[in-house]
Amino acid sequence: MPAHAATAVSCANIAFIKYWGNTDEALRLPANASLSMNLAGVETETTVTFVDNLAADEVFIGGAAQSGTPYDRVVGNLDLIRERAGLRAFARVESKNNFPAGAGIASSASAFAALSVAGAAAAGLKLTEAELSALARRGSGSAARSVPGGFVEWGPGQPGQPDSSFGVSIAPPGYWDLVDVIAVISQKHKIVGSTGGHALAGTSPLQAARVGSVPDRLERCRAALLARDFDHFAEVVEADSNIMHAVMMTSAPPLFYWEPITLAIIKAVRRWRAEGLPVCYSIDAGPNVHCLCPGEHAAEVERRLRENLDANRLLVARPGGPARLLG
Ligand code: DP6
Repeated sequence: MPAHAATAVSCANIAFIKYWGNTDEALRLPANASLSMNLAGVETETTVTFVDNLAADEVFIGGAAQSGTPYDRVVGNLDLIRERAGLRAFARVESKNNFPAGAGIASSASAFAALSVAGAAAAGLKLTEAELSALARRGSGSAARSVPGGFVEWGPGQPGQPDSSFGVSIAPPGYWDLVDVIAVISQKHKIVGSTGGHALAGTSPLQAARVGSVPDRLERCRAALLARDFDHFAEVVEADSNIMHAVMMTSAPPLFYWEPITLAIIKAVRRWRAEGLPVCYSIDAGPNVHCLCPGEHAAEVERRLRENLDANRLLVARPGGPARLLG
């Protein structure tokens, strides 16, 4: 068999309604539905090559050979692909991000979306978007939302059914010119990453209240998004980020992802909005602050973040398309 290769590119995404906690850790079935926007230009590019004479899978990220957990997670997805395709060959995986990994921008989302799309194509599989999304989810939950384009909803699926939980686009990237101005506070790796955090979610007495109140927030967020109603959108996005961080801070052990600068930006964003600038914040499992605003206000949000705050740098992303094969 000659080498079979494919390359795919996928965007990261920012969740407006967050995923935190699983009902099934092994299958990565989420405790609740979530809703996100793909981030154009914040991307992972991955090439998967199945090679006959390899003795084991090889995984390179940014040119560096991987071992331990990152390696095992990639091999886990390759095993699912091999099983589906009836393939035995090992693969070489070469992946690169154009943004810092492990600091609260969802590098695992774009990574596993690109890996799944490239890996399935390299193995000769013809999968639907839903099947690719469910496959990406097995590597990293939020990757389910980076497979379809634009604004994406990801449902919790059915117990014991691995293909029942996948992302679906509810609006294309051009539907609303929403911009994410990301204040990058730290490029360091997190001490407790998302996977460890999800496993702790159930230890917080607030998790049941969060999960129980997601359907209402999800409905309000979807309605505000589809109506391009920024005021209602801002309220529900901030509320959902806050309650997820309340769960994180009250799990055992507690997880504090914020730095002092994170809270300073939260307060500044709320003050700017009260003064009439339409902008709101959302924070993932890290200290970075995603400042969301309508496109026509992005330059002003950037200017204020640069002027007043000590962010390392700003990344600016508009709604992004689906994961795609290159070539
Ligand atoms: C806080 O998808 O990164 O960003 O499935 O363990 O890879 P794993 O977790 P991951 O969790 C994302 C958590 C979040 C919220 C979100 O993106 O919905």
